[in-house]
Amino acid sequence: MRPARLVALLFAGLVVAACDSPPEVPPEPTAADTIAMAVAAYDPAGFDSNAWDTPDEAIVRGSVVYQYSCVKCHGAQGLGDGGFVTRGDTLRPPAFNAEDWAFQGNLEGLRTHVFTGTEGGMPHWGLEGLQYRDVDAVSRFILDRLTAN
Ligand code: HEC
Repeated sequence: MRPARLVALLFAGLVVAACDSPPEVPPEPTAADTIAMAVAAYDPAGFDSNAWDTPDEAIVRGSVVYQYSCVKCHGAQGLGDGGFVTRGDTLRPPAFNAEDWAFQGNLEGLRTHVFTGTEGGMPHWGLEGLQYRDVDAVSRFILDRLTAN
């Protein structure tokens, strides 16, 4: 067989082989999948190296993080009335200032919640690009400035 024919035959074989096995498209992860990924990635030791020169430094940084990442859903005062919500989105974040708020005085629990998110529409910030230090800062800001005490 002439080399050109051999090459053509080989090429045809490759095309057929390629058609036989279309590339697998992985399914889109569900909310439960991404929360599970965030839970698996979460390591409380990530907060160990957080050193703030003063408590205020954490609050100031947390306020910046809150403005950028949280206000659009939770609102400036943490009442759950951010632009996303008032413009008709179906998300309903709870207000942070209830007397019996779930995370009252619970920095540890709050940081975990912010990192992992929920299937109910709270983003998993640990996977969305917030560093542990910023998760810590925004949690301190919420506890210090937006809750009832
Ligand atoms: C896209 C909208 C959205 C953004 C942005 C968002 N959240 Fe949420 N958040 C929610 C929703 C919706 C819930 C309620 C989730 C549920 O009920 O499962 C929630 C719940 C929470 C809760 C639990 C409240 C409670 O009483 O149970 C905390 C704490 C919280 N978010 C903090 C934050 C912080 C901090 C940020 C910014 C880093 C942030 N959220 C950004 C939508 C958002």
